[in-house]
Amino acid sequence: MVQKSVQLSTGYQIPVAGLGTWQSPEGVIGKVVKTALDTGYRHLDCAQGYGNEAEIGDALEEYYKTSSLKREDIFITSKVWNTCHSYERCCQSVEDILHRFKTNYIDLVLIHWPHGFQEGGELFPRVGDQIQYSDVDYLETWKALEKKVEEGKIRSIGLSNFNIAQIQRVIDNGKIKPVALEVEAHLYFQQKELRKFCQENNIVFIAYSPLGSPGSTGFWRQAHSEVNVLKDPIVLNLSKKYQKSPAQIILRWELQNNILIIPKSTNEARLQENFDLFDFNISGDDMKQLDQ
Ligand SMILES: NC(=O)c1ccc[n+]([C@@H]2O[C@H](COP(=O)([O-])OP(=O)(O)OC[C@H]3O[C@@H](n4cnc5c(N)ncnc54)[C@H](OP(=O)(O)O)[C@@H]3O)[C@@H](O)[C@H]2O)c1
Repeated sequence: MVQKSVQLSTGYQIPVAGLGTWQSPEGVIGKVVKTALDTGYRHLDCAQGYGNEAEIGDALEEYYKTSSLKREDIFITSKVWNTCHSYERCCQSVEDILHRFKTNYIDLVLIHWPHGFQEGGELFPRVGDQIQYSDVDYLETWKALEKKVEEGKIRSIGLSNFNIAQIQRVIDNGKIKPVALEVEAHLYFQQKELRKFCQENNIVFIAYSPLGSPGSTGFWRQAHSEVNVLKDPIVLNLSKKYQKSPAQIILRWELQNNILIIPKSTNEARLQENFDLFDFNISGDDMKQLDQ
């Protein structure tokens, strides 16, 4: 049976199905968050780099006033961006996140990417078309996050876009173990080795782009922009068999594999669809087909 939430190694519960907020623009995201909360979502996947946290913070503040929900009913994830990897900047970045969400703690903060960018300016600092990297070690960023945990400003800390060797380095050198890893994962990118490693190390595995990010274009999907897991023939067959949408088959397969999901939608019907996952079960044989 799929639980609606699982326990992190810090003891806190994280809902298994959350709302992705990347590419949900300002002017839209506030309403989306309120609709998602109405629908039952209690986990928001956010980031400094998405440029919309302030509007999400405003929407939450309004929602607390007009509903019975309180801050502690909602699990907020945010991420420290690549231009904030040095100790001081990372600490300041966490303070800025708290400010945007008008809260005194964040449930989960991740290092968004293992590599740092040159600090102080644009989100993507470039000279010509060359990204300018920094040489700040992510262990320094991790120390800053540990400090914020000690101060009670973050409940749990984790990693995003890290590989096994990088995660192991954090485990070996940090005071606090990462509770979660957020990486791209879906039917066409199953990340079996990384999932096994996470399971062995009590790290909750969160799939970003759990539907394969069909709306993304350009820089992010140049190589495979024609590939769409929602149109996979096996998925379409199972969609007919279970009378569920292709997205629901894919998301349910993830949940039954102990993968947490954070699909993004700004569409009311699809927000509902992506959360309506708890009243059916994909059989063992059909799971095997999808696993392959
Ligand atoms: N840590 C990281 O580095 C990282 C990187 C990428 C993403 N993320 C997180 O993961 C979240 C999800 O990833 P993602 O946004 O890349 O991709 P995704 O959730 O796999 O796909 C979102 C796309 O699918 C469409 N969609 C949503 N529900 C659908 C449904 N039921 N049927 C058909 N199409 C549907 C959405 O369009 P509509 O909005 O029109 O419905 C949107 O174009 C992000 O929002 C972000 O929070 C994290």
